[in-house]
Amino acid sequence: MSTSILVTGGAGYIGSHTVLELLSAGYEVTVVDNFCNSHPEALNRIEHLSGRSLRRIEADVRDTSALVNALRISNASAVIHFAGLKAVGESVLQPQRYYDNNVVGSLRLLEAMAQCEVKTLVFSSSATVYGSPLSLPYREDHPLAPTSPYGHSKSMVEQVMRDTVASDAACRFATLRYFNPVGAHSSGLIGEDPQGVPNNLLPFVAQVAIGKREHLNIWGADYDTPDGTGVRDYIHVVDLALAHLRALDALAIPPSKTGKGQYLALNIGTGKGYSVLEVLAAFREASGMPIPSRIQARRPGDIASYYADPAKAKTHLGWVATRSLVEMCADTWRWQKGNPDGYQQR
Ligand code: NAD
Ligand code: UFG
Repeated sequence: MSTSILVTGGAGYIGSHTVLELLSAGYEVTVVDNFCNSHPEALNRIEHLSGRSLRRIEADVRDTSALVNALRISNASAVIHFAGLKAVGESVLQPQRYYDNNVVGSLRLLEAMAQCEVKTLVFSSSATVYGSPLSLPYREDHPLAPTSPYGHSKSMVEQVMRDTVASDAACRFATLRYFNPVGAHSSGLIGEDPQGVPNNLLPFVAQVAIGKREHLNIWGADYDTPDGTGVRDYIHVVDLALAHLRALDALAIPPSKTGKGQYLALNIGTGKGYSVLEVLAAFREASGMPIPSRIQARRPGDIASYYADPAKAKTHLGWVATRSLVEMCADTWRWQKGNPDGYQQR
Protein backbone atom coordinates (compact mmCIF):
# COMPACT_ATOMS: atom_id res chain seq x y z
CA MET A 1 0.00 0.00 0.00
CA SER A 2 1.40 3.42 -0.90
CA THR A 3 2.05 6.14 1.67
CA SER A 4 -0.70 8.67 2.20
CA ILE A 5 0.11 12.37 2.74
CA LEU A 6 -2.22 15.17 3.83
CA VAL A 7 -1.36 18.47 2.15
CA THR A 8 -2.87 21.68 3.52
CA GLY A 9 -2.97 24.54 1.02
CA GLY A 10 -2.34 22.04 -1.77
CA ALA A 11 -4.23 24.07 -4.38
CA GLY A 12 -1.89 27.07 -3.95
CA TYR A 13 1.24 27.95 -5.88
CA ILE A 14 3.86 25.87 -4.07
CA GLY A 15 1.36 23.28 -2.82
CA SER A 16 0.11 22.46 -6.32
CA HIS A 17 3.63 21.82 -7.64
CA THR A 18 4.40 19.64 -4.61
CA VAL A 19 1.16 17.65 -4.93
CA LEU A 20 2.02 16.93 -8.57
CA GLU A 21 5.47 15.62 -7.58
CA LEU A 22 3.96 13.55 -4.74
CA LEU A 23 1.42 11.91 -7.07
CA SER A 24 4.10 11.30 -9.71
CA ALA A 25 6.25 9.61 -7.05
CA GLY A 26 3.37 7.26 -6.12
CA TYR A 27 2.06 8.86 -2.91
CA GLU A 28 -1.66 9.00 -2.16
CA VAL A 29 -2.57 12.66 -1.63
CA THR A 30 -5.40 14.40 0.23
CA VAL A 31 -5.60 18.17 -0.18
CA VAL A 32 -7.25 20.35 2.47
CA ASP A 33 -7.77 23.89 1.20
CA ASN A 34 -10.38 26.61 1.72
CA PHE A 35 -9.49 28.15 -1.67
CA CYS A 36 -9.13 31.63 -0.14
CA ASN A 37 -6.16 32.27 -2.44
CA SER A 38 -6.41 29.52 -5.05
CA HIS A 39 -8.68 27.86 -7.58
CA PRO A 40 -9.88 24.23 -7.64
CA GLU A 41 -8.95 24.13 -11.33
CA ALA A 42 -5.30 23.75 -10.21
CA LEU A 43 -6.25 20.36 -8.73
CA ASN A 44 -7.96 19.26 -11.97
CA ARG A 45 -4.81 20.07 -13.88
CA ILE A 46 -2.61 18.18 -11.41
CA GLU A 47 -4.81 15.10 -11.94
CA HIS A 48 -4.53 15.52 -15.70
CA LEU A 49 -0.73 15.90 -15.59
CA SER A 50 -0.12 13.00 -13.20
CA GLY A 51 -2.79 10.71 -14.62
CA ARG A 52 -3.84 10.04 -11.02
CA SER A 53 -6.60 11.25 -8.78
CA LEU A 54 -6.37 12.95 -5.42
CA ARG A 55 -8.82 13.48 -2.57
CA ARG A 56 -9.91 17.10 -2.09
CA ILE A 57 -11.49 18.45 1.07
CA GLU A 58 -12.69 22.04 1.17
CA ALA A 59 -12.04 23.09 4.75
CA ASP A 60 -10.24 25.64 6.87
CA VAL A 61 -7.15 24.52 8.77
CA ARG A 62 -8.51 26.28 11.85
CA ASP A 63 -11.33 23.70 11.93
CA THR A 64 -9.84 20.94 14.11
CA SER A 65 -12.67 18.48 13.58
CA ALA A 66 -12.44 18.83 9.78
CA LEU A 67 -8.70 18.11 10.04
CA VAL A 68 -9.24 15.11 12.29
CA ASN A 69 -11.76 13.83 9.78
CA ALA A 70 -9.33 14.44 6.88
CA LEU A 71 -6.50 12.64 8.70
CA ARG A 72 -8.78 9.69 9.51
CA ILE A 73 -10.31 9.17 6.09
CA SER A 74 -6.96 9.60 4.33
CA ASN A 75 -5.08 7.43 6.82
CA ALA A 76 -2.23 9.90 6.33
CA SER A 77 1.15 9.15 7.88
CA ALA A 78 2.51 12.67 7.36
CA VAL A 79 1.36 16.23 6.74
CA ILE A 80 2.84 18.96 4.55
CA HIS A 81 1.48 22.29 5.78
CA PHE A 82 1.35 25.05 3.16
CA ALA A 83 -1.94 26.69 4.14
CA GLY A 84 -1.43 30.26 5.25
CA LEU A 85 -1.52 33.89 4.23
CA LYS A 86 1.70 35.23 2.74
CA ALA A 87 1.60 38.95 1.86
CA VAL A 88 4.10 40.83 4.03
CA GLY A 89 2.52 44.29 3.50
CA GLU A 90 -1.00 43.00 4.15
CA SER A 91 0.21 41.38 7.39
CA VAL A 92 1.28 44.81 8.66
CA LEU A 93 -2.23 46.16 8.02
CA GLN A 94 -4.10 43.07 9.28
CA PRO A 95 -1.86 41.47 11.92
CA GLN A 96 -4.61 39.61 13.80
CA ARG A 97 -5.89 38.01 10.61
CA TYR A 98 -2.34 36.78 9.89
CA TYR A 99 -1.72 35.42 13.40
CA ASP A 100 -5.13 33.74 13.36
CA ASN A 101 -4.67 32.08 10.00
CA ASN A 102 -0.99 31.19 10.27
CA VAL A 103 -0.43 30.58 13.98
CA VAL A 104 -3.86 29.42 15.16
CA GLY A 105 -4.23 27.37 11.95
CA SER A 106 -0.93 25.59 12.68
CA LEU A 107 -1.89 24.99 16.34
CA ARG A 108 -5.19 23.44 15.26
CA LEU A 109 -3.36 21.24 12.80
CA LEU A 110 -0.90 20.06 15.48
CA GLU A 111 -3.87 19.35 17.77
CA ALA A 112 -5.58 17.25 15.08
CA MET A 113 -2.30 15.43 14.32
CA ALA A 114 -1.87 14.63 18.03
CA GLN A 115 -5.44 13.26 18.21
CA CYS A 116 -4.78 11.03 15.20
CA GLU A 117 -1.24 10.05 16.26
CA VAL A 118 0.30 11.51 13.12
CA LYS A 119 3.85 12.50 14.06
CA THR A 120 5.48 13.69 10.84
CA LEU A 121 5.16 17.28 9.63
CA VAL A 122 6.85 19.41 6.97
CA PHE A 123 6.13 23.13 7.43
CA SER A 124 6.44 26.07 4.99
CA SER A 125 8.58 28.69 6.64
CA SER A 126 10.35 31.61 5.01
CA ALA A 127 13.74 33.29 4.81
CA THR A 128 11.93 36.31 6.20
CA VAL A 129 12.31 34.80 9.71
CA TYR A 130 15.95 35.98 9.69
CA GLY A 131 15.22 39.71 9.35
CA SER A 132 18.08 42.05 8.47
CA PRO A 133 21.15 39.99 7.63
CA LEU A 134 23.95 40.13 10.23
CA SER A 135 25.97 37.94 7.88
CA LEU A 136 25.45 36.45 4.43
CA PRO A 137 24.73 33.90 3.18
CA TYR A 138 22.10 33.23 5.84
CA ARG A 139 22.83 30.02 7.69
CA GLU A 140 20.18 28.31 9.77
CA ASP A 141 21.91 29.45 12.98
CA HIS A 142 21.52 33.13 12.02
CA PRO A 143 19.41 34.83 14.73
CA LEU A 144 15.69 34.95 14.01
CA ALA A 145 14.48 38.58 14.01
CA PRO A 146 11.50 38.95 11.69
CA THR A 147 10.33 42.46 10.87
CA SER A 148 6.65 41.88 9.96
CA PRO A 149 3.64 40.10 11.49
CA TYR A 150 3.92 37.60 8.62
CA GLY A 151 7.56 36.85 9.55
CA HIS A 152 6.67 36.62 13.23
CA SER A 153 3.83 34.21 12.45
CA LYS A 154 6.35 31.89 10.78
CA SER A 155 8.93 32.06 13.59
CA MET A 156 6.18 31.51 16.20
CA VAL A 157 5.10 28.32 14.45
CA GLU A 158 8.75 27.22 14.29
CA GLN A 159 8.96 27.73 18.07
CA VAL A 160 5.79 25.71 18.66
CA MET A 161 7.20 22.93 16.49
CA ARG A 162 10.53 22.90 18.39
CA ASP A 163 8.72 22.75 21.74
CA THR A 164 6.38 20.01 20.51
CA VAL A 165 9.32 17.89 19.36
CA ALA A 166 11.02 18.44 22.73
CA SER A 167 7.88 17.17 24.46
CA ASP A 168 7.29 14.11 22.28
CA ALA A 169 10.15 11.89 21.15
CA ALA A 170 7.99 10.36 18.43
CA CYS A 171 7.67 13.66 16.53
CA ARG A 172 9.61 14.18 13.32
CA PHE A 173 9.23 17.73 12.10
CA ALA A 174 10.96 19.72 9.37
CA THR A 175 10.63 23.42 8.78
CA LEU A 176 11.72 24.55 5.33
CA ARG A 177 12.75 28.19 5.04
CA TYR A 178 12.01 29.07 1.44
CA PHE A 179 13.92 31.82 -0.32
CA ASN A 180 12.18 33.38 -3.37
CA PRO A 181 10.06 30.75 -5.16
CA VAL A 182 9.49 31.50 -8.86
CA GLY A 183 8.80 29.63 -12.11
CA ALA A 184 6.15 27.10 -13.00
CA HIS A 185 5.80 23.48 -14.06
CA SER A 186 7.40 22.94 -17.49
CA SER A 187 4.02 21.84 -18.95
CA GLY A 188 2.75 25.43 -18.57
CA LEU A 189 -0.46 24.03 -17.02
CA ILE A 190 0.14 25.00 -13.39
CA GLY A 191 1.83 28.13 -12.05
CA GLU A 192 1.50 31.15 -9.81
CA ASP A 193 -1.90 32.87 -10.06
CA PRO A 194 -1.69 36.11 -8.08
CA GLN A 195 -4.92 37.96 -7.30
CA GLY A 196 -4.87 41.67 -8.20
CA VAL A 197 -1.62 43.55 -8.72
CA PRO A 198 1.33 41.24 -8.04
CA ASN A 199 3.75 42.30 -5.29
CA ASN A 200 6.49 39.95 -6.32
CA LEU A 201 9.01 40.54 -9.07
CA LEU A 202 8.52 37.61 -11.44
CA PRO A 203 4.70 37.69 -11.64
CA PHE A 204 4.86 41.45 -12.23
CA VAL A 205 7.51 41.12 -14.96
CA ALA A 206 5.44 38.38 -16.62
CA GLN A 207 2.35 40.63 -16.64
CA VAL A 208 4.34 43.46 -18.24
CA ALA A 209 5.64 41.01 -20.85
CA ILE A 210 2.08 39.86 -21.73
CA GLY A 211 0.89 43.49 -21.94
CA LYS A 212 -1.29 43.57 -18.81
CA ARG A 213 0.91 46.20 -17.17
CA GLU A 214 2.72 49.08 -18.81
CA HIS A 215 6.12 48.85 -17.18
CA LEU A 216 8.04 47.31 -14.31
CA ASN A 217 8.82 49.60 -11.38
CA ILE A 218 12.32 48.82 -10.16
CA TRP A 219 12.20 49.57 -6.45
CA GLY A 220 15.56 51.24 -5.95
CA ALA A 221 18.80 51.27 -7.94
CA ASP A 222 20.97 52.82 -5.22
CA TYR A 223 21.55 49.78 -3.01
CA ASP A 224 25.01 48.62 -2.08
CA THR A 225 24.86 45.78 -4.61
CA PRO A 226 26.88 45.25 -7.84
CA ASP A 227 24.32 47.08 -10.04
CA GLY A 228 22.45 48.98 -7.31
CA THR A 229 19.23 46.88 -7.49
CA GLY A 230 18.01 44.36 -4.89
CA VAL A 231 19.51 40.88 -4.86
CA ARG A 232 17.54 37.71 -4.01
CA ASP A 233 17.98 33.96 -4.07
CA TYR A 234 15.33 32.88 -6.60
CA ILE A 235 14.46 29.20 -6.54
CA HIS A 236 12.49 27.27 -9.15
CA VAL A 237 9.20 26.06 -7.65
CA VAL A 238 9.78 22.50 -8.93
CA ASP A 239 13.16 22.34 -7.13
CA LEU A 240 11.35 23.64 -4.05
CA ALA A 241 8.57 21.04 -4.43
CA LEU A 242 11.16 18.26 -4.65
CA ALA A 243 12.75 19.44 -1.38
CA HIS A 244 9.47 18.46 0.36
CA LEU A 245 9.69 14.91 -0.97
CA ARG A 246 13.31 14.68 0.21
CA ALA A 247 12.21 15.99 3.61
CA LEU A 248 9.59 13.23 3.87
CA ASP A 249 12.31 10.67 3.03
CA ALA A 250 14.65 12.13 5.66
CA LEU A 251 11.94 12.14 8.34
CA ALA A 252 11.05 8.52 7.54
CA ILE A 253 14.54 7.37 8.58
CA PRO A 254 14.36 6.23 12.23
CA PRO A 255 16.20 8.70 14.46
CA SER A 256 19.14 7.56 16.56
CA LYS A 257 18.17 6.15 19.92
CA THR A 258 18.55 9.48 21.71
CA GLY A 259 15.02 9.44 23.03
CA LYS A 260 14.53 12.83 21.41
CA GLY A 261 12.23 13.75 18.57
CA GLN A 262 13.62 15.03 15.30
CA TYR A 263 13.49 18.70 14.32
CA LEU A 264 15.15 19.99 11.16
CA ALA A 265 15.18 23.67 10.15
CA LEU A 266 16.58 24.04 6.66
CA ASN A 267 17.19 26.78 4.13
CA ILE A 268 15.73 25.98 0.74
CA GLY A 269 17.47 28.19 -1.79
CA THR A 270 20.11 27.95 -4.49
CA GLY A 271 22.86 29.86 -2.67
CA LYS A 272 23.14 32.32 -5.56
CA GLY A 273 21.70 35.84 -5.61
CA TYR A 274 20.48 37.67 -8.73
CA SER A 275 19.69 41.37 -8.99
CA VAL A 276 16.45 42.82 -10.34
CA LEU A 277 18.31 43.91 -13.50
CA GLU A 278 19.73 40.41 -13.99
CA VAL A 279 16.26 38.87 -13.64
CA LEU A 280 14.83 41.43 -16.06
CA ALA A 281 17.54 40.69 -18.64
CA ALA A 282 16.95 36.92 -18.30
CA PHE A 283 13.18 37.37 -18.71
CA ARG A 284 13.62 39.57 -21.78
CA GLU A 285 15.78 36.87 -23.31
CA ALA A 286 13.40 34.02 -22.39
CA SER A 287 10.30 35.84 -23.67
CA GLY A 288 11.70 37.88 -26.53
CA MET A 289 9.61 40.77 -25.18
CA PRO A 290 11.01 44.27 -24.53
CA ILE A 291 9.57 44.71 -20.95
CA PRO A 292 9.84 48.45 -20.26
CA SER A 293 11.03 49.43 -16.79
CA ARG A 294 11.42 52.55 -14.65
CA ILE A 295 13.66 53.10 -11.68
CA GLN A 296 11.70 54.27 -8.65
CA ALA A 297 12.43 55.00 -5.00
CA ARG A 298 13.20 52.08 -2.69
CA ARG A 299 10.20 50.04 -1.46
CA PRO A 300 9.83 50.51 2.32
CA GLY A 301 11.01 47.49 4.30
CA ASP A 302 13.12 45.97 1.49
CA ILE A 303 16.54 44.52 2.26
CA ALA A 304 19.37 45.19 -0.25
CA SER A 305 20.53 41.62 -0.64
CA TYR A 306 20.09 38.16 0.79
CA TYR A 307 20.67 34.57 -0.22
CA ALA A 308 20.88 31.15 1.37
CA ASP A 309 23.61 28.87 2.47
CA PRO A 310 21.87 25.68 1.29
CA ALA A 311 24.59 23.30 2.58
CA LYS A 312 22.51 21.94 5.47
CA ALA A 313 19.69 20.83 3.13
CA LYS A 314 22.28 19.01 1.01
CA THR A 315 23.68 17.24 4.06
CA HIS A 316 20.34 16.29 5.64
CA LEU A 317 18.14 15.78 2.59
CA GLY A 318 20.64 15.08 -0.18
CA TRP A 319 18.80 17.91 -1.97
CA VAL A 320 20.23 20.67 -4.18
CA ALA A 321 18.46 23.04 -6.56
CA THR A 322 19.32 22.29 -10.19
CA ARG A 323 17.14 24.63 -12.29
CA SER A 324 18.72 27.84 -13.66
CA LEU A 325 17.46 31.43 -13.79
CA VAL A 326 16.86 30.94 -17.53
CA GLU A 327 14.55 27.98 -16.79
CA MET A 328 12.78 29.96 -14.05
CA CYS A 329 12.02 32.74 -16.57
CA ALA A 330 11.17 30.44 -19.50
CA ASP A 331 8.75 28.39 -17.37
CA THR A 332 7.10 31.51 -15.90
CA TRP A 333 6.64 32.86 -19.41
CA ARG A 334 5.15 29.60 -20.76
CA TRP A 335 2.61 29.59 -17.91
CA GLN A 336 1.80 33.32 -18.34
CA LYS A 337 1.38 33.06 -22.12
CA GLY A 338 -0.84 29.98 -21.93
CA ASN A 339 -2.92 31.31 -19.01
CA PRO A 340 -3.12 35.10 -19.27
CA ASP A 341 -5.91 35.10 -16.67
CA GLY A 342 -4.47 32.34 -14.51
CA TYR A 343 -6.95 29.57 -13.67
CA GLN A 344 -9.91 31.86 -14.31
CA GLN A 345 -10.96 30.85 -17.84
CA ARG A 346 -12.01 33.73 -20.06
P1 NAD B 1 -0.65 30.40 -1.92
O1 NAD B 1 -1.47 31.50 -1.36
O2 NAD B 1 -0.60 30.22 -3.39
O3 NAD B 1 -1.11 29.00 -1.28
C1 NAD B 1 -1.62 28.90 0.02
C2 NAD B 1 -2.83 27.98 -0.02
O4 NAD B 1 -3.37 27.84 1.29
C3 NAD B 1 -3.95 28.54 -0.91
O5 NAD B 1 -4.45 27.51 -1.70
C4 NAD B 1 -5.00 29.02 0.10
O6 NAD B 1 -6.31 28.94 -0.43
C5 NAD B 1 -4.78 28.05 1.25
N1 NAD B 1 -5.17 28.56 2.56
C6 NAD B 1 -4.81 29.74 3.15
N2 NAD B 1 -5.35 29.83 4.38
C7 NAD B 1 -6.05 28.69 4.59
C8 NAD B 1 -6.81 28.18 5.67
N3 NAD B 1 -6.98 28.89 6.79
N4 NAD B 1 -7.36 26.97 5.55
C9 NAD B 1 -7.22 26.24 4.41
N5 NAD B 1 -6.51 26.66 3.35
C10 NAD B 1 -5.92 27.88 3.45
O7 NAD B 1 0.82 30.56 -1.31
P2 NAD B 1 2.18 29.81 -1.71
O8 NAD B 1 3.06 30.77 -2.39
O9 NAD B 1 1.89 28.50 -2.35
O10 NAD B 1 2.78 29.60 -0.25
C11 NAD B 1 2.58 28.38 0.46
C12 NAD B 1 3.23 28.51 1.83
O11 NAD B 1 4.61 28.85 1.68
C13 NAD B 1 2.61 29.61 2.70
O12 NAD B 1 2.55 29.15 4.03
C14 NAD B 1 3.60 30.75 2.56
O13 NAD B 1 3.59 31.59 3.69
C15 NAD B 1 4.92 30.00 2.42
N6 NAD B 1 5.95 30.79 1.72
C16 NAD B 1 5.70 31.30 0.48
C17 NAD B 1 6.68 32.07 -0.17
C18 NAD B 1 6.41 32.68 -1.52
O14 NAD B 1 7.10 33.64 -1.89
N7 NAD B 1 5.46 32.18 -2.30
C19 NAD B 1 7.92 32.30 0.45
C20 NAD B 1 8.16 31.74 1.70
C21 NAD B 1 7.17 30.97 2.33
N1 UFG C 1 10.96 44.29 -7.02
C1 UFG C 1 10.92 45.34 -7.92
N2 UFG C 1 9.73 45.62 -8.53
C2 UFG C 1 8.59 44.91 -8.28
C3 UFG C 1 8.65 43.83 -7.35
C4 UFG C 1 9.85 43.57 -6.74
O1 UFG C 1 11.92 46.01 -8.17
O2 UFG C 1 7.54 45.22 -8.85
C5 UFG C 1 12.26 43.97 -6.37
C6 UFG C 1 12.23 44.13 -4.85
O3 UFG C 1 12.52 45.45 -4.48
C7 UFG C 1 13.29 43.10 -4.42
C8 UFG C 1 13.16 41.99 -5.47
O4 UFG C 1 12.52 42.61 -6.59
O5 UFG C 1 14.58 43.67 -4.53
C9 UFG C 1 12.32 40.81 -5.00
O6 UFG C 1 11.07 41.28 -4.50
P1 UFG C 1 9.84 40.31 -4.23
O7 UFG C 1 8.69 41.17 -3.82
O8 UFG C 1 9.63 39.41 -5.40
O9 UFG C 1 10.33 39.37 -3.04
P2 UFG C 1 10.82 39.75 -1.57
O10 UFG C 1 12.21 39.24 -1.44
O11 UFG C 1 10.59 41.16 -1.25
O12 UFG C 1 9.80 38.91 -0.65
C10 UFG C 1 9.67 37.50 -0.82
C11 UFG C 1 8.25 37.06 -0.49
C12 UFG C 1 7.97 37.23 0.96
C13 UFG C 1 8.99 36.57 1.79
C14 UFG C 1 10.36 37.05 1.39
C15 UFG C 1 11.41 36.29 2.13
O13 UFG C 1 7.33 37.84 -1.23
O14 UFG C 1 6.73 36.59 1.25
O15 UFG C 1 10.55 36.84 -0.01
O16 UFG C 1 11.27 34.93 1.89
F1 UFG C 1 8.78 36.87 3.10
